[in-house]
Amino acid sequence: MNILITGGAGFIGSAVIRYLINETKHNILNVDKLTYAGNLESLAAVANNPRYHFCQADICDKNHLIQLFNNFQPDAVMHLAAESHVDRSISSSAEFIQTNIVGTFQLLEASRHYWNSLSKEKQSLFRFHHISTDEVYGDLNNSATELFTEVTPYAPSSPYSASKASSDHLVRAWYRTYGLPVIITNCSNNYGPYHFPEKLIPLTILNAMQGKKLPVYGNGEQIRDWLYVEDHARALYVVVTKAKAGETYNIGGHNEQKNIDVVKDICSLLDELVPNKTFGITSYKELITFIPDRPGHDVRYAIDATKIKRDLNWVPQESFQSGLRKTVLWYLNNQEWVNRILTGEYQKWIQKQYQS
Ligand code: NAD
Ligand code: DAU
Repeated sequence: MNILITGGAGFIGSAVIRYLINETKHNILNVDKLTYAGNLESLAAVANNPRYHFCQADICDKNHLIQLFNNFQPDAVMHLAAESHVDRSISSSAEFIQTNIVGTFQLLEASRHYWNSLSKEKQSLFRFHHISTDEVYGDLNNSATELFTEVTPYAPSSPYSASKASSDHLVRAWYRTYGLPVIITNCSNNYGPYHFPEKLIPLTILNAMQGKKLPVYGNGEQIRDWLYVEDHARALYVVVTKAKAGETYNIGGHNEQKNIDVVKDICSLLDELVPNKTFGITSYKELITFIPDRPGHDVRYAIDATKIKRDLNWVPQESFQSGLRKTVLWYLNNQEWVNRILTGEYQKWIQKQYQS
């Protein structure tokens, strides 16, 4: 297959591309604008593979997309490009509306334009796979055992989740109205290597390593359902190759954790792995600092992943304990990646890549 992936230089997109290049024979075109969150270094291990191609492009630019579709002739689109950070959406939402809603609309239109030109057989095999979030469902009660299913009503809380919910609605409308063969997946919180250090887990690891405060919003009792990013990448591959058009799948790790416990677990791992601290503390837990809560903070997310297990035989392979240890070790062993991001060296690195 020729698979066009948007947002392939991001955290999850790069995991998907590494998986597809290493584990399958498919050809990949990575279409990414390279915002602050896009990082081609995350793809260094596969960048020289002849089945991997990259084009810097904005998904809001429909004409450029049409050109890319005509040249690459994709059998499937996996749409991951988005503005993804909830806190940024609260302080400045315009880019979220632009990329997540308008960008998805332009990508749907470019796909439809291209899809209309295909033979009937190719049309029926084509898939537009929209990668979305469990945040579209709003939140669950902290003390209840209820889970998000594929029919849970949408009730997004933040500008980010509202923009993702809007894009889900557009994708479903393009299926119902135009017959474009779409699939939507809604996944819980991912964690693992190459995660941008604005999100809770990498931020906690990196702050602790520098003896900085570990910010926990509110009382830290909020719950997230964590999934190792490589389990998500495998799930997305199963879905794009096996799911029927029009289907929705929830993806999650059956792994609910309170934020405060996640932060404490990271501190315990670091106490074991990096015992010699130079900041006058005996445990990294002493750096934990409760700060004012995120406005509109969702209380609890938890996914019922029964459908994807039943229909497509996908289950997560990584436990939270082993996945978190791998993640902490990855950040400890990849200081160069981290430093380049933190110091802005990344931009210089990219320019050099383009020149060579
Ligand atoms: P990310 O922020 O790490 O990466 C997003 C990528 O999209 C970056 O490479 C960026 O350069 C690119 N991009 C942004 N705007 C673009 C534009 N206008 N045109 C082209 N490229 C653009 O995000 P992520 O965490 O990898 O998330 C990927 C997708 O998965 C998103 O759609 C997100 O909503 C969804 N998702 C994420 C999680 C999670 O826990 N991270 C969970 C469920 C769903
Ligand atoms: O549920 C899926 C979503 O998970 C994805 O759709 C989003 O793209 C992704 O960013 C993630 O959203 P969250 O807001 O849940 O992730 P984040 O890492 O920002 O925060 C996780 C939890 O930790 C959340 O309850 C807020 C809290 N938090 C976060 C940060 C950055 C803190 O307590 N302190 C922090 O410094």
